[in-house]
Formats: sequence, C-alpha cells, structure tokens
Amino acid sequence: MQHLVDTNDFTEEQIANILKDAKTFKQQRPNQLLRNKLLITLFFENSTRTRSSFEVAAKRLGASVVYLDPSTSSTNKGESLEDTFDNLCAMEPDGVIIRHEYNNTPQKLADKELTCIINAGAGNHAHPTQALLDYFTMQEHFGDLKGKTIAIVGDIVSSRVASSGIRLFTRMGMNVVLVAPEPFMPDNDLPKYQHLEEVIDKVDVIMSLRAQLERHKAPIFEDYNEYAKEYCITKKRLGNRDIVLLHPGPVMRNIDISDEMLQDERCKVLAQVKNGVFVRMAILKALLLDS
Ligand code: CP
Repeated sequence: MQHLVDTNDFTEEQIANILKDAKTFKQQRPNQLLRNKLLITLFFENSTRTRSSFEVAAKRLGASVVYLDPSTSSTNKGESLEDTFDNLCAMEPDGVIIRHEYNNTPQKLADKELTCIINAGAGNHAHPTQALLDYFTMQEHFGDLKGKTIAIVGDIVSSRVASSGIRLFTRMGMNVVLVAPEPFMPDNDLPKYQHLEEVIDKVDVIMSLRAQLERHKAPIFEDYNEYAKEYCITKKRLGNRDIVLLHPGPVMRNIDISDEMLQDERCKVLAQVKNGVFVRMAILKALLLDS
C-alpha cells in the first residue's frame, strides 16, 4: 500500500508521471478513472484550498468523497484520533486525506496500513501536494527547472509548505535561498538573507509566505505593517524583473503581497490553485490506481 506523507514517498519516475498526468488532465477532461473509489477527508485544521481542491479532484475522476467534520465528530466526546481513524477504516475507504496540527500524525496513521494515507498538511513539517503543485506551476512557466533559484520569503520556520518545498525543489536540482527576519528563519544549511534586495537579482521565483500567527506561542512582531515594509512583495520591490511570484494562500494582502502585485501577471497565486486540482487528480491516480 502506498501513502503520501511527504514527496520522498514518490520516486523521481513517479513524480515525472504525476507532472505528466497533471498536464494531460489540464488539457483534456479524463474519464471517470476512480469511479469505484471512496475517499474520506478529515481536516483537523482550517482549509479553503486544499480540502476543496482534493474534493474537486476526486469528483472529477468519478470518486465519492465523504467529509468528516472534526468539530462535530465524536473526537469531541473524547474519542482518540487513532480510534476515530480505525472506525473510519472499518467502512473500507480507499484512502483518507488528513490535515493535522502534529507533524507525525500522517505517518502514525500510515504505519497502521489500514488504508492509503494522503497528507493534506501536517504541523510545520510537510504539505506534499502543495510542493508538487508549486513545482508544476514553476515547470509550466520555465520548462526545465534545474539550476533555477527560488527565494522563500516570510515565516519559513512555521511553514510546512516551505519544509516540503525545500525538500522537493532541492531534490529536483533547484537552488533554494531563504529570506526572513531572524525569528522566522529555520536552522538549516541553505543560504540565508535578511533582506530580499541582497539576492533579488539572482532569483527566478519568489515564494511569499504568510506569517502564521496561529502557530506563534507569543506575538513575534507587534505591528505587521512594520514587518511588511521589509518583506511585502510590491511592484516597487520587484521592478520590471522577470520573476515568478508564488504564494500558497491564504494571502495577507499588503503584508505578504501588495494589492497591486496580486494583479500583476507575474503573480501565479490563482494559477497555483487551478493547477492544484490537476496535480491532486494525478496524485490520486498514482496512489489509488497505479501503485
Ligand atoms: N495552501 C493551503 O494549504 O491552503 P489552505 O490552508 O486553504 O488549504
């Protein structure tokens, strides 16, 4: 049984096939490849894009989707996550798509080998489908990404998007540099900058990240308008450079990216969301049909 806890669960051949399938699905609507499959989505943290994108992707492939809302489930009566999961698996779904606050939850459930686990975001550790859709979006723009440089800007230490992205992009031959104030900077070997201006002329892609206030134990900045003066991606900051701008969403307007820049054709935020459906369709095919 194959799971998707992080992108390293896929071989490079599988990743290439997923990117190829996603491109095909974008060009033409596929048949009901998963018409006999049943998926359960279980989101213990809020989501707009990932949850609806998985549901749209599954339904476009003919699969049925059941959503269990944790806030009205028996976890509120004290049932453990493991027991909830075991009970859902007794209904024999073909996969469970889970988002959870703890880094190790998807792996813990995958280790039970009861059903295919698909990680829809865990703690600050992994968000593999976001990394793959970001890669697809960059590849759609540039073609070959080997040697291209992406600057990840913002609250990197809190970000599972950054964690999965760094692992995938470096594995695929991209250069990754980090731009953040000290409290938002993770501890790793990647090149680090406090100011975007120090590196902007060397980058092909900027990935802006939201300050994840809900993950901070205490407020890190008193005034995010002050933070924005240094880290908000504005037209003035980018000039006329040929740089692709990504953001996983939700965007804090005029803190992460300016209103004006969100309208700029270099900004791929909605293209990422659109591509997310095709990439997740390809991922569901890879996990439920091809494995
Ligand atoms: N990119 C992302 O994970 O967005 P949601 O939190 O809305 O799913």
